[in-house]
Amino acid sequence: PCAPLIDPFARPITYLRVSVTDRCDFRCVYCMAEEMTFLPKQEVLSLEELTRLCNAFTDLGVRKLRITGGEPLVRRDILQFFQNMGKRLGDGLDELTLTTNGSQLRRHARALADCGVKRVNVSVDTLDERKFLEITRRGRLAQVLDGIDAAQEAGLSVKINAVALKGVNDHEIVPMAEWCAARGMDLTFIEVMPMGDLGNEDRLDQYLPVSEVRETLARRWTLEDIPLRTGGPARYVRAKETGARIGFITPLTHNFCEGCNRVRVTCTGMLYMCLGQDDSADLRAPLRASESDEPLVETIRGAIARKPKGHDFDYSRQGDFGSVGRHMSVTGG
Ligand code: GTP
Ligand code: 5AD
Ligand code: SF4
Repeated sequence: PCAPLIDPFARPITYLRVSVTDRCDFRCVYCMAEEMTFLPKQEVLSLEELTRLCNAFTDLGVRKLRITGGEPLVRRDILQFFQNMGKRLGDGLDELTLTTNGSQLRRHARALADCGVKRVNVSVDTLDERKFLEITRRGRLAQVLDGIDAAQEAGLSVKINAVALKGVNDHEIVPMAEWCAARGMDLTFIEVMPMGDLGNEDRLDQYLPVSEVRETLARRWTLEDIPLRTGGPARYVRAKETGARIGFITPLTHNFCEGCNRVRVTCTGMLYMCLGQDDSADLRAPLRASESDEPLVETIRGAIARKPKGHDFDYSRQGDFGSVGRHMSVTGG
């Protein structure tokens, strides 16, 4: 009944990433400031509003819904929202999934699977407990590993996300890949993006081009390009000797914006057309102003019509790196 969402560069928008909370029990150095002030509750969309919003996008052709945060599983009652959206699987949605830090997975994995979630992406940058605490500022690795066990016990496929950080986890590339291979988990390496407050830290110092990660892996295993596409930006290889799949997310060294199929909504209902640009549209106002979805849909269409070509991240750009000021936790990556 509704015309699908197509942006000015003829890209169909079929993947929605929704951040359901700005809160997180971790404070990863590349994602949040050490001291964060979180939003008052009335600013954040209610579960009913989130459900209405996601249903509207699904009616507009979104087929893949990824729940992010902050940490989605620290939001109280979030399972109710997964239940609501699980009802759209097979009725518009092909996939309902989430990206999580894993700390609450032990508690929620089974219920998520019951809602129709098949896969979860869990962020693990290091297998060294002390380093894990340094990166996350308050995360306990053992708890996350236990969460991953719980997810696998519940029958969920797990993909591990590791942000590649020079001088931090570059010696763990092969061990991480061995760990994932042994557990049957996909693994993706991500280039660190210049987002948030770059004032007191030098993101450039830690930036590790993922091409170097690939070279490290290629010294250990024979890597074969494979055509696996999950709807996200990763390009995958298979390590011939182990059969494991390893993905590379390369916003800096190999721009993938040309194939962009996604937009993001924050927990306050701001629609961001690009992770690396500031332009946004307020969806909360039309959601709250009317019981009809018409103004909401009009606002969404107007925003998609201004979706930019891509981000401008570039560490060779002196001064600002094409960075954006908001923290990654606002839009959930
Ligand atoms: P699947 O492919 O379904 O496994 O998920 P995904 O890679 O889309 O999602 P995930 O939450 O695991 O994201 C992994 C990383 O990719 C995050 O760091 C995101 O910020 C990054 N990413 C995803 N989409 C984009 C994008 O459009 N632009 C940029 N620059 N980075 C992105
Ligand atoms: N650059 C790259 N990836 C990031 N993530 C968070 N902040 C950044 C950043 N500045 C990753 C998290 C998580 C995913 C959603 O985004 O590690 O895996
Ligand atoms: Fe929390 Fe994820 Fe951000 Fe880390 S990357 S602070 S786990 S939202």
